[in-house]
Amino acid sequence: MAEQVILREVGLRDGIQMAKRFLETERKREWALRLKDAGIREIELTSFVPPKVVPQFADADELAKCIPLLSGVVPSALVPNLKGAERALAAGFRHMNYVLSISDAHSQSNVRRSTDEAIAEFDRIAALKETEAGRSMVLGVGLATAFGCTLQGYVDPERVWQVARHVVKGGADELIVADTVGYGNPAQVKMLLPPIIEIAAGHRVICHFHDTRGLGLANVAAALETGVRVFDSSLAGLGGCPFAPGATGNINTEDTAFMLESMGYRTGISIEALLELRRDVESWLGDERYSGAIARAGLPKTYQAVQ
Ligand code: COA
Ligand code: ZN
Repeated sequence: MAEQVILREVGLRDGIQMAKRFLETERKREWALRLKDAGIREIELTSFVPPKVVPQFADADELAKCIPLLSGVVPSALVPNLKGAERALAAGFRHMNYVLSISDAHSQSNVRRSTDEAIAEFDRIAALKETEAGRSMVLGVGLATAFGCTLQGYVDPERVWQVARHVVKGGADELIVADTVGYGNPAQVKMLLPPIIEIAAGHRVICHFHDTRGLGLANVAAALETGVRVFDSSLAGLGGCPFAPGATGNINTEDTAFMLESMGYRTGISIEALLELRRDVESWLGDERYSGAIARAGLPKTYQAVQ
């Protein structure tokens, strides 16, 4: 039996948060449903940020109404603060991803709080789990800029591990180790990840890589060696943080699925279906930075998905 690797599709969140065009809710819904049809089993669907900060997610509540149509899929939402977490719960999300930036400079730019203040906000969000509304909540914590920061430069791995320890102790259900600006390399992945996996003590550790400097898939290969089996990726390699200068796209879902399947890991994903969806998404969004070697070159004749 082949080993499974899960790709969490973040195109509908990370992918379009910088998009120039507002994508109609109906299109976003179609995008999500077609991801499901293509075999994607985890989707970050939207973000509960103030519409004036990121107008693209003004329809988060409306889009959440498609959750019942996504049976078999785990939908999640990004939340930047307690208010976002409360909104996500009220809209029907159980899974949420709280972003906590290890770089103070990025934290200030992204959520107008220092890292310490963002940790205090995590504690307030985790306290929701004690409430009636939050009892079944699954709280992921994104350790953003864990590999370096375009604003601050160096990010100390000791600080990453320290924050990871705090949030695991405080009730985080999963850790998302994020290379927000594409500074990471495979050696760094192999240094940073094993202690995090140990700290996570059985909770899921997810890697979130950006391909800004071309090392996205090399980092995936390195993380696989450390035991990571869940990765965030984005259709057509869309994405980037509007509050981190120079940030570009996530690792591309089609290419990542291709690499994993070729290596013998089962993803359950139909790359052909993703390529079809991607063509439509490109026509909906217009002028954006799309990436992807498989979209350009096609699948090799020898390609066979793992059964
Ligand atoms: N959803 C909707 N409205 C929110 C909100 C949320 N999650 N959080 C705060 N607000 C509202 C407040 O109610 C307040 O409204 P009012 O002016 O009508 O009273 C207003 O926004 C300001 O609230 P405040 O708590 O002072 O927030 P802020 O201005 O310091 O902004 C964040 C903080 C976190 C909300 C903002 O910086 C943010 O959304 N950052 C996320 C950026 C992002 O998406 N980055 C990319 C993904 S990592
Ligand atoms: Zn990202």
